Amino acid sequence: MTSGISRRQFLFGSSAIVAAGAVQSIPGTPFSPSVNLMKSALGQSELPMPAAPIRMSSNENPWGPSRAALQAINAAIHEANLYTFFLQDEMAGLISELEGIGSEHISVGAGSGEILKMGGLLASMQEGSIVVPDPTFEDLPRYAGNNGCEVIRVPVNGQMAIDLEAMASAIRSDTKLVYICNPNNPIPTIVEKNALRDFVLEVSRDRMVFVDEAYHEFVDNPDYSSMMDLVREGHRNIIIARTASKIHGLAGLRVGFGFSHPDLAAEINRRMTGTLNIVGMRAALASYRDKEHAAFVLRTNKEALEITQGYFREAGIRHIDSNANFTFVETGHDIAEVQARFLEYNIRVGRPFPPFRNWMRLSMAKPDEMRYFVQTYKKLYG
Ligand SMILES: Cc1ncc(COP(=O)(O)O)c(C=O)c1O
Repeated sequence: MTSGISRRQFLFGSSAIVAAGAVQSIPGTPFSPSVNLMKSALGQSELPMPAAPIRMSSNENPWGPSRAALQAINAAIHEANLYTFFLQDEMAGLISELEGIGSEHISVGAGSGEILKMGGLLASMQEGSIVVPDPTFEDLPRYAGNNGCEVIRVPVNGQMAIDLEAMASAIRSDTKLVYICNPNNPIPTIVEKNALRDFVLEVSRDRMVFVDEAYHEFVDNPDYSSMMDLVREGHRNIIIARTASKIHGLAGLRVGFGFSHPDLAAEINRRMTGTLNIVGMRAALASYRDKEHAAFVLRTNKEALEITQGYFREAGIRHIDSNANFTFVETGHDIAEVQARFLEYNIRVGRPFPPFRNWMRLSMAKPDEMRYFVQTYKKLYG
């Protein structure tokens, strides 16, 4: 374990716990002591500061890859001499099966970031603009902007959600692409499914609509739906992006997916510049076949959110209820300063996202680590 409150610290940091001998592994995961056992063993005592900063800053998976993925990674190291062309069909075939969509719709990228950049590139090939929410994930807008596109930013609404009406009004005749990040990042709100479906169908008649579903697997909200069915039904001009970085914990190995009409997928595939590596490919193949790990990550993410947002609720601290693996909370203090204060306690929180200078994006770590976060928050600002 490279960061966070290590298992060793929890096991051996308190003699009471060691004496109680109460901490065990959760069956089926190599990673964590039982949170409930640990809670009772720790009682009300103070949680110790971890040896290295806990990452609550980049919406990463705190558990790392699944056991199956780790085994695949170990084996794949011995294949490091190979290009990965021979695995492309297997990868597209697996995703095709899991998503119920023909593999001719699928692009496999070096992270979904590469698919996002392809959206930005296609939009900027002729003079024009793109319309994006503000704030949002910047990969696509930044790339399109760097390639000469005008980026029209549409502020989120009063509920801090993407404002579809305002986005529609901002579209000009020269708008080549509209970007919707659902759930959004850094604010983990969603767009209501029926309104989004109508919007995507209407807007994609004349221009591309890119729906970024990086956090799709985390959403537990009846108002949410993926827009994948529109691509399945054969609609043109729609790109959906998904990633192995989040729920599968493979951010460092760069695997992501695009889904679009076969003509658009072919265009994206022709222009991509990244190449996947064998370790990432093998890890993703193993991970997407392993349902148990994803279920474990979801469960612990929910628990982490409950600990964190539960505290915010109790304390009356304004926050946006998460639809992903991070939350957004109004600290009332400048975030640059908040970041520095938390770092003194070995917690790395999100950077500032202007204009929300007093709001902090907080990525979920392990439940135990979120307890340590709450303890620290109370100490600093409670
Ligand atoms: C909304 C969103 N889309 C895409 C990505 C990029 O993910 P990756 O390139 O690792 O697939 C991220 C990463 O944080 C994200 O938050």
